[in-house]
Amino acid sequence: MLYRNYVDGRWVESSSGETFKVTNPANGEELGEVAKSTPEDVDAAVKVAERTFDWWRKYPAARRGEILFRAGEILVRRKDELARLMSMEMGKVLNESRGDVQEGIDMTYYMAGEGRRAFGLTTPSELPDKLAMAVREPVGVVAAITPWNFPLAIPTWKLMPALVLGNTVVFKPSAETPILGTMLVHVLEEAGLPPGVLNLVNGPGSTVGEALIKHPGVALISFTGSNETGRHVAAEAAQTGKRISLELGGKNAIIVLDDANLALAVDGIVWSAFGTTGQRCTAASRIIVQRGVKDRLVKRLVERTSQLRLGDPLEPTTDVGPVINRTQLEKIDRAVQTAKQEGARVLVGGHIAREGEVAKGSFYEPTILDDVAPGMRVAQEEIFGPVTAIIAVDNLEEAIRINNQVAYGLSTSIYTQDVNKAFVAVRDIRTGLVYVNAGTIGAEVHLPFGGMRQTSNGHREAGIAALDVYSEWKTIFVDYSGRLQRAQIDVAEGGAAA
Ligand code: UN1
Repeated sequence: MLYRNYVDGRWVESSSGETFKVTNPANGEELGEVAKSTPEDVDAAVKVAERTFDWWRKYPAARRGEILFRAGEILVRRKDELARLMSMEMGKVLNESRGDVQEGIDMTYYMAGEGRRAFGLTTPSELPDKLAMAVREPVGVVAAITPWNFPLAIPTWKLMPALVLGNTVVFKPSAETPILGTMLVHVLEEAGLPPGVLNLVNGPGSTVGEALIKHPGVALISFTGSNETGRHVAAEAAQTGKRISLELGGKNAIIVLDDANLALAVDGIVWSAFGTTGQRCTAASRIIVQRGVKDRLVKRLVERTSQLRLGDPLEPTTDVGPVINRTQLEKIDRAVQTAKQEGARVLVGGHIAREGEVAKGSFYEPTILDDVAPGMRVAQEEIFGPVTAIIAVDNLEEAIRINNQVAYGLSTSIYTQDVNKAFVAVRDIRTGLVYVNAGTIGAEVHLPFGGMRQTSNGHREAGIAALDVYSEWKTIFVDYSGRLQRAQIDVAEGGAAA
C-alpha cells in the first residue's frame, strides 16, 4: 500500500517518486510505503494553501464548523478501525488508541462549535457615536508539524481550530505515523473540506519539516516535539517573522505525601508512568515521595510494575506496548545506564526486553529507579519511555521546590487528603497542568493544554486558548458622528468626552 501526499484535493506521489517504509514497532513488520516529499512538493503545497486562503477565510464560519461536525461523525464511525491501525503503527495498546481517537473526536466536535462562536469583543467607545469591537481573523497558512505519540489527537488539536477559524493548512505528520495522519486527511476530505484548504506532505523533519518552516508563505508554525527541534523552529521562524506555537517536553512529577490514599496513588503512578509506554509529554517520570510513606509506596509500586505484561498492543492481555523505534529504545537504555552510574538503583526493569516474542520489537521493561537525587540527569531530562525515578523528600515545601526545579513545566500531580496542603500545592506548583488526587495524564480537550518554562512558548493548545493561536485580533472602530472625533484629545476635564 502506498500512502500519498494530498495537495489541492488530489492524492499525489512525491515529485522524486521516492518513498519510505513504515513498520510496526511491536514486530518489525512493514505496514506500507509513504511518499517521501521533496522541498518542491512542500513549495507546491504551501502555494496551494496560500492561493486558497483568501477564499476560505470568507467561507461562512458556520459552514466550516459543519464540515468539522461531519468529520467528527466519520471519526466516531471509524473509531475502532483507526484505533487498530494506530496500535499497529505506533504501538500503544488498543484501549489507549481508542482513547487517542476519542480525543480527536472530542476536539473535532468542540472546534466545530466554534463555527458559531469564535466570539469577539464589543465594548463602549470613549467617544460618542462611535462603535468599538474586535473580531478574530485567521492568520494565513498554518504549518502543522505533529508528533507520533498521539498520531490522531494532536493533529486534531492543530487542524481543527486552524480550519474552523479560516486558516489553510499544510500538515506534516511525524514520519513514524504518516498512516494515521493520512487517515485524518481522508476523514476531512470525506466530510467535504474543499480542495486546497488542507494539504498533506509526508517525510522526515530534517528535509520536509525544514522546507516547511523556512517557507516564506507560511504564516504560523504549530509544532509539537522535542525541545531541541522546538528551539530550531523558533530560530528559523524569527528570521522570517512567522508566528509560532510550540509544545515541547515534560519532566512531570507525582508528589505523594504521608497522608495520601496509597492505593489511589499507586494506580495513578502506574497509569501515568507506564501508560502509552511512558511516551506522553505528560508522563510521570518523577515520583516525589515523603519519607514517612516511601517504603510502603515503593513496595506496592514494584509489585504492580513487575506484573505489567509487555506484548502486542492489539492483544487485550497486553498492558505495555513497544516504544516507537530502535533508536528510542537505545536512548532510553542509555538514560537508565547513566542514572545507575550517577547512583540510582534499579528496583524493577532497567533493560531492553529480549526474551520471547517481544525480542522482535522495540520493548523496554517498565523501570523504577530509587535513590534518585533531584540534580541527577534522570531527574532533569525527559526520557520518553517507561522509566520513572523515586525522589525522597521531608515535606511538602521541599517536594514543590524540587518539582519546580526542572527546565520543563507541563504537568504535576499531588496525592494528599489534607485540603490545606492540596491548595498550597495548587498555588505553588509551577506547571501548566496540576492534578489533585489523579495522575499527570488525562487532560481534557476543552481546557487549555501546555506548560510553563521551556515546555511551551507562552501559548496553549486546546479549549478557547487555541483560538488565540490560530487567529489574530482585528480591532474595528466605526465613527457614525459625521465629524472629526479625536481619541485621547477630545476629552473634557475629568475625562468625559467633550
Ligand atoms: C501528549 O503527551 O503529547 O493529558 C499529549 C494527556 C493526553 C494528551 C497528551 N490527553 O495525557
